[in-house]
Amino acid sequence: MTRCAGIVGVGAYLPEKVLNNLDLEKIVDTSDEWIRTRTGMWERHVIADDQAASDLAYNASKPALEMAGLDTLDLDAIIVATVTSDYLFPATACLLQDRLGAKNAGGFDLSAGCAGFASALSVADAYIRSGMMENLLVLGVDVLTRITDWTDRDCVLFGDGAGAVVLTPVPEGEGILASFLKVDGGGGVHLIQPGGGSRHPASHETVEKRMHYIHMSGQDVFKGAVRGMVEAALAVLEKAGYTPDDVNLLVPHQANIRIIEAVRKRLKIPPERAFVNIERQANTSAATIPVGFEEAHRTGRLKKGDLVCTTAFGAGFAWAANLLRWCI
Ligand code: ACO
Repeated sequence: MTRCAGIVGVGAYLPEKVLNNLDLEKIVDTSDEWIRTRTGMWERHVIADDQAASDLAYNASKPALEMAGLDTLDLDAIIVATVTSDYLFPATACLLQDRLGAKNAGGFDLSAGCAGFASALSVADAYIRSGMMENLLVLGVDVLTRITDWTDRDCVLFGDGAGAVVLTPVPEGEGILASFLKVDGGGGVHLIQPGGGSRHPASHETVEKRMHYIHMSGQDVFKGAVRGMVEAALAVLEKAGYTPDDVNLLVPHQANIRIIEAVRKRLKIPPERAFVNIERQANTSAATIPVGFEEAHRTGRLKKGDLVCTTAFGAGFAWAANLLRWCI
């Protein structure tokens, strides 16, 4: 049997605390009206003081594993897409493996910014197609509010969350049909956390210069995102022999409602076939797509056999997409 990876379990976790636009008006020079009209966001979830990425990941993993009916001992690998791991090392995948008691699993974190989850799905699909692995847990987890400069007006864009999927082999054509990845490191400077790595290790100076926060050129990211997300979606559709007309649900990365709308219109996909939850969750980076999967599945917007197209763009620049049949 030729096989591919199919999603057989999905879970999500959003921290309890919610910050709405009116709360942000009290922190920075912004307004509810500006945030709603320029970004589509109303509120975002913010991690508790005693939580970190692996806690969100754990809470998203449990329901995904339960839905899949899989014991953690059956997991061959855990891949966590994140740019906000608990520590620079060890990997969040290792912390999660320990907490889940997934004693037979390998694992690693994958860094591709907001394109991390779509990139990680392509890795899981390749492992399963090759016959190297059977059961994988793949997450998109980010805690952007921990690297957000709350004196910068761009702080309105970010929220925290985690989404998890369990993948197992399914017959070719019934799971992930195609994936696409691309990077352009020339765009790296437009979306970067400059401090804390080996280029500028943490020091009094990096902290004073606020280098451990997100530094972003919003308009460059915006333009790249529209171009990259359209390119990636069209590439996976072409690879698998489909057109945008065939897509039952587009699940795009949620960075700005104007980016989503521009992508949707260029793909000629009507609004009812594009998933949007940005108003309630803002940009949770690698988590937006798996969190979207969970909500779309729970609310009946995703049904078994549906053709689903993901597309995402983020730090790197990195952009990626997947085309898959929903199989739960
Ligand atoms: N609140 C109120 N006013 C604001 C804010 C704000 N938060 N930000 C900018 N403005 C004002 C500006 O001062 C400017 O005012 P002016 O016209 O009086 O000069 C006006 O709004 C327009 O400013 P622009 O920068 O042109 O605003 P734009 O429409 O480009 O929106 C935004 C800015 C929201 C950042 C947009 O460019 C965007 O969404 N970019 C993509 C960002 C993104 O997706 N980042 C992903 C990072 S996450 C990751 O990958 C890890």
